[in-house]
Amino acid sequence: MLKRVHLGALPSNRLRAAFGVVGTALALFGVACISPPAESPFDVVEFELVAAPSTVPLVDGRQMEVWAYDGQVPGPTIRVRRGQTLRVRFTNRLPQPTTVHWHGVRVPNAMDGVPGVTQPQVEPGESFTYEFAPPDAGTFWFHPHVRSSEQVERGLFGVLIVEDPEPPPFSREEVWVLDDLLLARDGRIAPEFNTRHDLAHDGRWGNVVMVNGERAPTLEVKPGERIRLRLLNVANGRVFVPDFGELEPRVIAVDGLYAKEPVAWGGFEIAPGNRVDLDLVVPPDAGGRRFAVQDRFTRRPFPIAEIAVSGDRVETPAFPAPARAAEPAWGAFGESAPARAELRLNARLGGPLGIEWTINDEVMDHAHDHAKTGRYALPRNEASRLRFVNDSYRLHPMHLHGMFFRVLSRNGVAVDEPFSRDTVLVHPKETVEVGVVPADPGLWMAHCHVLEHAEAGMMTLVEVR
Ligand code: C2O
Ligand code: CU
Repeated sequence: MLKRVHLGALPSNRLRAAFGVVGTALALFGVACISPPAESPFDVVEFELVAAPSTVPLVDGRQMEVWAYDGQVPGPTIRVRRGQTLRVRFTNRLPQPTTVHWHGVRVPNAMDGVPGVTQPQVEPGESFTYEFAPPDAGTFWFHPHVRSSEQVERGLFGVLIVEDPEPPPFSREEVWVLDDLLLARDGRIAPEFNTRHDLAHDGRWGNVVMVNGERAPTLEVKPGERIRLRLLNVANGRVFVPDFGELEPRVIAVDGLYAKEPVAWGGFEIAPGNRVDLDLVVPPDAGGRRFAVQDRFTRRPFPIAEIAVSGDRVETPAFPAPARAAEPAWGAFGESAPARAELRLNARLGGPLGIEWTINDEVMDHAHDHAKTGRYALPRNEASRLRFVNDSYRLHPMHLHGMFFRVLSRNGVAVDEPFSRDTVLVHPKETVEVGVVPADPGLWMAHCHVLEHAEAGMMTLVEVR
């Protein structure tokens, strides 16, 4: 189903050494075409992407009925190099309309996949071609923006990796797609979506936790290897805080972009939508050992994965961790940047689902709100402050499309995160202030990434001009 024009898409439903995969892709590249210069606009990477009901091995290899991109869950991992243009010919073979949203990527507004705002929804049997040149290297992902609480849960998500033109020489690369799934007693994906329970809480939390579609898989590594581990959370509502125990990875990128400097791994909350890239050096003397990776967000820690060390020792490449490679221009935020908006987050009874999640007492609904103007305005290339005020007792990972932001304070206390984000977890009753310098004009969504909250109205539009 996948057309390999330049680089191939990679099955991501197995833990595997991406080093070999990159090699394969490069070989394909050499075979498939005469390699154009890295920044050439004619360097187009083309994919066919089809969303359709499918049966795939998932959760301990059981055959499960899902909705999948290209017949796999997680969907294909798309890799492009910064400077290349990605063209995705998408076809909808689902029983519902859908779109593809490129989470975190600064796409031209018309490619953002927001139904009724940036494009009409793609009806069953129809196609839509997405084309853009990702301006930032990093770990991104794609998912539907129509009935996402159902469509993402059923299996529609995939990883988009934008490579640096000269990637740092890690000994290998791994991607861990963190997810959970709510299975009914009969072992199938529980077919009731947007339940009253899920709406009244932090969305749909599953009873099975998976990494790349498997329960607590084992990653085999060699002593001394230096691994770039890309983590992303595609769950509807669950937050992950992976604890690597004695292994001491450093955070080199958050939500795609490199950090200013590597940060010690200190229990980062990977909320739905967030990505974190880790620089993980396997201790050279750890041969024969196994390290448990446990989740610490919930009260009772549980295993997410295991890292097993065996085989011959590998020389760890010595290179400085990548930092601040391609980043949008940041102005000085400080107190001087004007506060443009306060977004108060709350819930009320009512609406088609019985509970509505509101931003400043308003709801948005993709099915009916085909807005052509933003509810909030941000001037392009200027520093602005935005404030999220959580008036509720639930979690709200707030996500902005089309731009990155920096967290400036939590509950009035300044924080100095040396990285930017596109999604920030706002805790119950918490106030989070962010600074942003939007570079790309258009109508961009701001919404909660607890997908049930978004479905129940917790979305709005920010206009950059
Ligand atoms: Cu991944 Cu509108 O979001
Ligand atoms: Cu929310």
